[in-house]
Amino acid sequence: MQNFIFKSPTEFIFGKEAENQTGSYLKKYGAKKVLVLYGGKSAKASGLLDRVTKSISEAGIEYTEMGGVQPNPVLSKVREGIELCRKEQIDFLLAVGGGSVIDTMKAIGIGIDYEGDVWDYFCGKASNPHPYPGAVVLTIPAAGSEGSKSMVITNENGLLKRGFDCEESRSKFSILNPEITYTLPAYQTACGAVDMMSHIMERYFTNTPSVELTDRMSEAVLKTIIHAAPAAIANPSDYNARADLMWASTLAHCDLLSCGKTGDWASHDLEHELSALYGIAHGAGLAVVTPAWMKYVFKHDIPRFCQFASRVFDVEMNYFNPEETALTGIYKLEEFFKKLAMPTRLADLGITDNQFQLMAAKTTGQGTHTIGNFAKLSENDCCQIYELMK
Ligand code: NZQ
Ligand code: ZN
Repeated sequence: MQNFIFKSPTEFIFGKEAENQTGSYLKKYGAKKVLVLYGGKSAKASGLLDRVTKSISEAGIEYTEMGGVQPNPVLSKVREGIELCRKEQIDFLLAVGGGSVIDTMKAIGIGIDYEGDVWDYFCGKASNPHPYPGAVVLTIPAAGSEGSKSMVITNENGLLKRGFDCEESRSKFSILNPEITYTLPAYQTACGAVDMMSHIMERYFTNTPSVELTDRMSEAVLKTIIHAAPAAIANPSDYNARADLMWASTLAHCDLLSCGKTGDWASHDLEHELSALYGIAHGAGLAVVTPAWMKYVFKHDIPRFCQFASRVFDVEMNYFNPEETALTGIYKLEEFFKKLAMPTRLADLGITDNQFQLMAAKTTGQGTHTIGNFAKLSENDCCQIYELMK
């Protein structure tokens, strides 16, 4: 196990009707004028936005609203938010939504006090921002942004989807009421399950030896998602299944499951090129990318893939042919994604053109660097993995 620092400063308020406490928590964290950010229509249609703003008003706090954040959030919306915050002298940000709304909030937060263009942070031209404080009312368990240090934004100019990590951008508090997720369509529930599983698997496939405790915790969260996701899809108002998914989303990406090891993250890099170019849901893209990545790299560490197969999918170990055990685990994962009605091939996503070279070049900076840590992938490797997704 490697040396590590674990810091998860977010206060999580979990459970039924938790959103009614938004105002009192904003007060606790010193908010005076809040920007309430939301997405397309779900938060308004469900009445959630009304409950949240009522709670803010009751706490005697002023607020301004900004809706219209789209999935795979874009830079122009971030810039719009920065301008609004400056004009309205906002001192606290609140995201009512999923990863797209939260990431837009985080990006606005690092841009308000920055004199240059906020995109500088995403392309390595700026660092060490001074983010505005922000908080979350989560509506979809998926991206884990409610507890993570990351934000991912797409620059419409060049369709570049890039992430930026900033410890100080972690949400001050995140409100997690599983009931809010009853309205999620089955497709979004499944996309969310795949994304959180991927956040765990990106960390699980590591070259760091002796990480048994973190492995066991990761396997427990994976098994819980494998049980809860179909249950939530079969019965959208199954509180316990929704609750397990919601907490799994946070645990998967708050860095608890990376303690003491180096994660991989190539699948995320490969997927971000897909969602940037084709506008697909991130989780759906990962359902296609992850099995292809696994098939390409599993020989790098067959025992680790056997451990994954036997502990997560209860595959019986074939000691005479460990390669077969490893591959069976990958196929079981693929089967599970299919059971969730997720795509597992590019064609299932309606992608039939071959932009593999372009995407491989983009993700490796025109071949100037590799991606991934478990296995270092060159531009050519990336191209071959995209080929496996056909
Ligand atoms: O816009 P509305 O109408 O709200 O609809 C949304 C959206 O269409 C809908 N939705 C959300 N909550 C709902 C609901 N519909 C009904 N009932 C509810 N309660 O779901 C759709 C997807 O929302 P979105 O926020 O895009 O989903 P998600 O949380 O999966 O976020 C995806 C984004 O996060 C990034 C992804 O790349 C993608 O851009 N990621 C962010 C990460 C981070 N910051 O740490 C890590 C991830 O790996 C990921 O890359
Ligand atoms: Zn993800």
